Amino acid sequence: MTTRAEHVPVLPREVCRAVLPALAIGAGAVPPLLVDATCGLAGHLCLLLEGAPQARAIAFDRDEDARVLAKARLADAGLADRVTWVHAPFSELAQHLDRLGITEVAAILADLGISSLQIDRGERGFSWRADAPLDMRMDRTRGASAAEIVATIDEGTLTRILRDLGEEPDARRIAQAIVAARPSTTLALADVVANAMSAPQRRKLGLRIHPATRTFQALRLHVNDELGEIDRLLADAPDRLAVGGRLCIISFHSLEDRRVKQRFAGLSRPPAMPAGLPLRSDELPRPKFALPGEFAKGVAPSDDEVADNPRARSARLRVLERLER
Ligand SMILES: C[S@@+](CC[C@H](N)C(=O)[O-])C[C@H]1O[C@@H](n2cnc3c(N)ncnc32)[C@H](O)[C@@H]1O
Repeated sequence: MTTRAEHVPVLPREVCRAVLPALAIGAGAVPPLLVDATCGLAGHLCLLLEGAPQARAIAFDRDEDARVLAKARLADAGLADRVTWVHAPFSELAQHLDRLGITEVAAILADLGISSLQIDRGERGFSWRADAPLDMRMDRTRGASAAEIVATIDEGTLTRILRDLGEEPDARRIAQAIVAARPSTTLALADVVANAMSAPQRRKLGLRIHPATRTFQALRLHVNDELGEIDRLLADAPDRLAVGGRLCIISFHSLEDRRVKQRFAGLSRPPAMPAGLPLRSDELPRPKFALPGEFAKGVAPSDDEVADNPRARSARLRVLERLER
């Protein structure tokens, strides 16, 4: 049985402005193909398929629960027969496109991170708001859960994870306390962190931010290798764009956004040439990619959107367009 769940898509108008032009020109493919690398509950996908009636989509998600709900939502909207499903991480984009016989696509969208569904379903173990086994895997069919990692990890490695992925100033104290207690549930972990945190750090966070916020973020990023996933997507996706095609990525914190920004900037810069070559400016090699004007600096949500959907607060959309092969 499926239940309908809500996930309000972030930056909906901006995503449509970024993706639909690439689907409209077809970017060489008939019918134009969209890869939704993070289908989630299909909020963006519904908008995009409705906005591009001629397009088809390949929908990736590594979370089986999301896929079941997204299918139901697309079926309700009469869009399900335009979608091919791939239950896999987007780091496997290239191998699945090869398997499907697809060399290039008009657009690729990745809306990073977790969905409201994953946070709201307490049993998934992503949040201290419900007591549950500490799981945190987006794909519960693969890899080690957070509880399994916490049960065996050494203090030095955990300190680095909390510092690098959570930007946690009290990383060492918290890692010491976690390794001493080895909590296996969300509430037990939240308690260990709250008790271990130094008084100045607790005061800095104030009453609105839970002391375990950064620890939960760091563990979640580690359990799902989220930064490694982004690096592999950034390595493979640009090459899969047809001419005129666009890669659109929404990130939610600086660790993600920095990677996207640097890779897009690198690809859209002209290739470096040895100094002193006798070439006119129109003879210099042109970059194969560009950052379309409206999106050149990345786009953040409006104040109105953040007021309606606080989850959008830290979202940033960046877009890369293929100019030539
Ligand atoms: C923020 S939600 C996407 C919401 C979606 N755009 C919508 O409007 O409903 C992110 C989704 O991406 C999935 N996801 C995150 N990282 C992934 C990865 N590396 N590979 C595949 N799916 C991933 C998560 O399971 C989650 O369902």
